[in-house]
Amino acid sequence: MNASGMTGSAHDDARRGAHVIVCGNEKGGSGKSTTAMHIAVALLRSGYKVATVDLDSRQLSLTRYVENRSRWARKAGLELAVPHHMHVPPARREIVADAEQEEFRQLSEGLAGIDRQFDFVIVDTPGADTFLSRLAHRIADTLVTPMNDSFVDLDLLARIDLWTFALPGLAERPEDIEPNLEYELARWAARHKLQPSFTREARLRFLEFATSPEAAWTGNFRDFAACIERMSTLAEHGRITIDNVREEIERLRRAWQRPLQNAGRAEDALERVLDHDRLARLDPFDRVQLNEVLRVCARSRSLSEAGRYLFASSRQNKSSTNDADRLRKYLAKYGLRWQEL
Ligand SMILES: Nc1ncnc2c1ncn2[C@@H]1O[C@H](COP(=O)(O)OP(=O)(O)OP(=O)(O)O)[C@@H](O)[C@H]1O
Ligand SMILES: [Mg+2]
Repeated sequence: MNASGMTGSAHDDARRGAHVIVCGNEKGGSGKSTTAMHIAVALLRSGYKVATVDLDSRQLSLTRYVENRSRWARKAGLELAVPHHMHVPPARREIVADAEQEEFRQLSEGLAGIDRQFDFVIVDTPGADTFLSRLAHRIADTLVTPMNDSFVDLDLLARIDLWTFALPGLAERPEDIEPNLEYELARWAARHKLQPSFTREARLRFLEFATSPEAAWTGNFRDFAACIERMSTLAEHGRITIDNVREEIERLRRAWQRPLQNAGRAEDALERVLDHDRLARLDPFDRVQLNEVLRVCARSRSLSEAGRYLFASSRQNKSSTNDADRLRKYLAKYGLRWQEL
């Protein structure tokens, strides 16, 4: 690795630092973190000096893998080689460009510190298109893109738009639902030595829902696999009934209604920033609104980004808009400042 990927200049011939392996795939749950850890351990066992970098701050899977490995080695009195690990948290700034600059700084400084000391740097990226993830792809010497071994995913390889590399999500490919259903049922059967099957009515209802516009499949394959896993597990004697399907549909609806669930339970955001007295003085009307605003803020990297999302419709009708300013004033009404959220 050298700084060429980060700066845009190309001095690849002069590359003398660590070899950077980036595990990336915008699709969630495809095996990035697991692959990153396996590569790291395999290289360690081959005698190389290895550093790992976790850019997925939301999940920190690789960070946990590394921590667990160290903990287990200590507890068991074993001499297990553990990679040198670093994790880059996403920066929060009022302006997206500032946040990106800060993330750039953190990653480049972190890498500069380890570049010359290690033979390999293994980078795990989030299952989302983030600035840090793009940066990592730019500095990769080797890019590893794990794929799920499903028909949906293999078929997808043939459908990648040659020019834009755009990948359609599962919700945009209703024709893939049924073949993938068979695949998931067979996979469950192989693991549990029991072949699950739907009643006719249940199967029709499930497919009707699963291919409807209402089915968001926000987690793509992960959502779908988990859904079949749940129904197969809950079905008595492997027979999935209409009741199993109805329950599962409700479960999925609830999950998809909470796109911001990672920011916490509905009232968490309010309780975090307002003390008990101020919370008690809020009208239920304001409480709902403010809570949603705070949850959006928690997911946004800048005040402008949050403002753009929150005022997405009304901003179309104004000749000049300053969403960040509107949001700043709204928060100020409750004595809140972006920096303190
Ligand atoms: N080669 C594999 N074979 C079978 N299961 C696997 C394989 N690799 C990973 N898995 C399993 O798939 C699941 C997702 O793996 P992992 O967390 O590594 O994916 P990810 O791409 O990092 O997900 P995310 O996008 O959420 O970060 C885990 O339960 C993991 O144990
Ligand atoms: Mg991961």
